[in-house]
Amino acid sequence: MSHIVNLRGGGVAFVLDLSGPTPVVVHWGADLGDRGHPGIVSNPVPNSSLATGAKQELLPQASSGWRGRPALEGHRRNGTAFSPLLVTSQSRTLAGGGHEITMTDPEVAIEVVIEVRLSDEGMLRLRSTVANRGDSDYSLLALTTPVPTGLGAAEVLDLTGRWCREQHPQRQPLRQGTWLREFRHGRTGHDSSLFTAVGSTGFGNRAGSVWATHFGFSGNHSTYVELTPSGSAMIGNTELFSPGEMTLTPGESYTAPWTYAVHSASGLDGVTQTFHRWLRSRSSHPRSPRPVVLNTWEAVYFNHDLASLKELAHSAEKLGVERFVLDDGWFAHRRDDTAGLGDWYVDTDVWPAGLTTIISDVRARGMQFGLWVEPEMVNEDSDLIRAHPDWISGPGHGRTPLPWRNQQVIDLVNPEAWDHIFSRLDALLSENDISYLKWDQNRDLVEMGHAGSSSAHDQTLAAYRLIDAVRRAHPSVEIESCSSGGARVDLGILERTDRVWASDCNDALERHTIQRWTEAVLPPELVGTHIGPSTAHTTARTHSLSFRAIVALFGHFGIEWDVGNLDDEDFAELAQAVALYKAHRGLIHSGTAVHADLTDPAHTLNGSIAADGSEALFAFVSVATSVAELPGRVGFPGLDPEADYAVTVIFPTQSSPYRSIENVGWIPGGIIASGVFLTEVGLPMPILNPESAVLIHLVRA
Ligand code: DGJ
Repeated sequence: MSHIVNLRGGGVAFVLDLSGPTPVVVHWGADLGDRGHPGIVSNPVPNSSLATGAKQELLPQASSGWRGRPALEGHRRNGTAFSPLLVTSQSRTLAGGGHEITMTDPEVAIEVVIEVRLSDEGMLRLRSTVANRGDSDYSLLALTTPVPTGLGAAEVLDLTGRWCREQHPQRQPLRQGTWLREFRHGRTGHDSSLFTAVGSTGFGNRAGSVWATHFGFSGNHSTYVELTPSGSAMIGNTELFSPGEMTLTPGESYTAPWTYAVHSASGLDGVTQTFHRWLRSRSSHPRSPRPVVLNTWEAVYFNHDLASLKELAHSAEKLGVERFVLDDGWFAHRRDDTAGLGDWYVDTDVWPAGLTTIISDVRARGMQFGLWVEPEMVNEDSDLIRAHPDWISGPGHGRTPLPWRNQQVIDLVNPEAWDHIFSRLDALLSENDISYLKWDQNRDLVEMGHAGSSSAHDQTLAAYRLIDAVRRAHPSVEIESCSSGGARVDLGILERTDRVWASDCNDALERHTIQRWTEAVLPPELVGTHIGPSTAHTTARTHSLSFRAIVALFGHFGIEWDVGNLDDEDFAELAQAVALYKAHRGLIHSGTAVHADLTDPAHTLNGSIAADGSEALFAFVSVATSVAELPGRVGFPGLDPEADYAVTVIFPTQSSPYRSIENVGWIPGGIIASGVFLTEVGLPMPILNPESAVLIHLVRA
């Protein structure tokens, strides 16, 4: 039997050599076919070193020569069993393209099972389970999933952020040492990176080798890139445990969350395409056209008043909105953000007849009705906490964590608290015609504890169980994951939700960057993008409606603006944007996302290209004033080189973003050119006002 496991899919291969006592990764990168793998070619053993040469192990451990971060860290009482020698005891092929390897150390009675899967789209997924096979407790400190990078790895790129500025890139040279990011937010975190990438020198959107991973988990976690003097760079992902949190009693096991790993030989867009294709292949992926949303938050905040909300619904209907979402402020005591969380009963002072009146009005106008909830949180000023003060999660000794937005976390590890919250959600969804929940979570979960012991891990899983139970009980209800904007955006939460809210910032300029990097992993149909008010509430910047609309079009589009008071011009342009979204959502939500590499930082060009190359939609965006007088020619990436395309600017048409005596020759009449010309030679772009955009449509002529 061959000792080589050669997993292949989507142009990628992950090759393991199982001939030795421990599994070794021979290759993760381009698919090399099914022959000619020599297996491990041993490294030299340098002077003054351990007796064996360095190997790239699937489960790096000190006992077989790894001196970097080990995959498994733990011990039994008095520090024993601190360094197992885990060797392969079993290995088997998994149905659907994968392999499972069991490693055991009978002396310390620890077993680790590693599951590796490579999908047809090229998505590599790995996760390990550690089991305590002994008769005493095993304190697990960390179970990491590391993957090695390949030839030419030279730079590290990941994302960071804060509230209203999520997913911003940071790049640095790869050097010896460890680049460690830790996220101790109890939720994914505003600064958490959707990916950690290592790539060749200067890798860009369209060129270069890239190895990237994503960790599918919504609790405390860390991610690192490590380059030791004796090996290639590893990217690792780990769940972070609080002290004493993960004790495995005899027979118990812990399974790490999935690490998703993607290799691309064609830059970041190659990484994006694999993530998008894989996510779209899931049976749970939303298939129906993503409805135009109107969310009431920035329109009315807490000022819930039936007459004005009905007026808003009326305007929404006229604009072509398909889903009306009633945000925060509908439940008992919730007149502002100081009280009420936990009291999941309709506020009868504001809604004397319950939510039925607004729901029937919205439904009669042909729209779906959605409702905001924040089930994992409580205000201390709530009937729930007055009745159950011990339901607040915290460190014990009667102390509660520092408040954040006046709120605390309900201890969902307590089965009574969990049952209570589930039954309230269940009742709301059973009693009302609700087809959508905006499931919010508005604070970091610090010092999580249940019955005096740390419970960050259990709290994360209890929240997952709660969402899962609601979905099981109400399978037709869609759920959005919101967390003070984009603080819970990861593939763990997306296993159980239908879209994420990328940011609380509706400023189109900020959003453009936030969405570009969210889109690096998530396809646009999973990302909520709303047109906010002309002057953004979170930055006080003023933008044209057309710029706000073009940015919002490349996602799951909606409106978050008091559209009841628009003048005729704005109303007409907004209605046009809604119609454009409806006309093009099929393309945007199924097409290949592309991002041009432009040399002028004042501009960006991003687009979506139909799978058969027959059509494309691009946004040419001016993000700042340029040092250049002219934007120059810009190439449209990803087109079918053989096809001829008719190219036209389709938006804005009612207002002008242009700043020139005369516009470029191909606007407004359009132009016909071949795909190869448009990609390789490009078209001269118009001079735009800073912070404005045009939408360019290409159709095979
Ligand atoms: C934070 C969210 O991100 C906002 O969109 C809004 O729903 C508020 N919470 C409501 O409190």
